[in-house]
Amino acid sequence: MLNIILFGAPGCGKGTQAKRLAEHYGLNHISTGEVIRSEIARKTELGRSMEGYISRGELAPDDIVVGMIRDYMESHRGEGSIFDGFPRTTAQAEAFDIMLDRMGLAVDTMIYMDVPEQELVDRILLRGKDSGRADDASEEVIRNRIDVYRSQTEVVAEYYSQRGKYAGVNGHGTMDEVFERLCNVIDALPR
Ligand code: AP5
Ligand code: MG
Repeated sequence: MLNIILFGAPGCGKGTQAKRLAEHYGLNHISTGEVIRSEIARKTELGRSMEGYISRGELAPDDIVVGMIRDYMESHRGEGSIFDGFPRTTAQAEAFDIMLDRMGLAVDTMIYMDVPEQELVDRILLRGKDSGRADDASEEVIRNRIDVYRSQTEVVAEYYSQRGKYAGVNGHGTMDEVFERLCNVIDALPR
């Protein structure tokens, strides 16, 4: 039962690859961004409170996102997962470790996908033409998402690196090439 974190800047390919990896390895795929977007679409109270953060390209509060993951873990006991877009702050990583430890579980590895900044922006602008995502609409918000990633999220890689649970792959290339690089990392994990 694998628990893998897919990590990297906005547009690096987390969602694309998480879907394929989940299918290939028989794992669940959880994207905190998608959970938030679905709350917004359903106009729930939680969704309404998240709208501002998403449209500005800022992070949602840690306690709310950790709560979402707690609910997810409780309803998927005994199943492995690909975590896409979580954890995104050191506080989230610490809370996640405590949560998993209490359940007798652990993260197997974080895999970072490295993509040059201009390519991130180009990919998101292209998707923004028909994604309908509020945070894909303007280059200003896209750049802010990348700045937020650099200032608050990038440091999470060190958290896992210090614990010997970090791998990096080149995220530039075709989707098939990147998928193969990710599979090589996962296949080499101790099982
Ligand atoms: P989230 O939904 O996680 O968005 P993100 O991190 O900004 O990343 P994206 O979903 O835009 O990109 P991706 O890496 O999934 O790439 P994708 O596969 O789509 O978060 C959204 C917001 O929710 C956050 O800003 C925050 O407000 C909030 N949030 C979420 N989690 C949170 C947390 N833990 N804490 C606090 N707040 C949180 O690919 C991008 C595009 O490129 C696609 O069009 C794809 O087709 C294309 N593409 C993919 N791979 C390739 C390739 N190899 N070559 C060419 N094109 C490619
Ligand atoms: Mg995504």
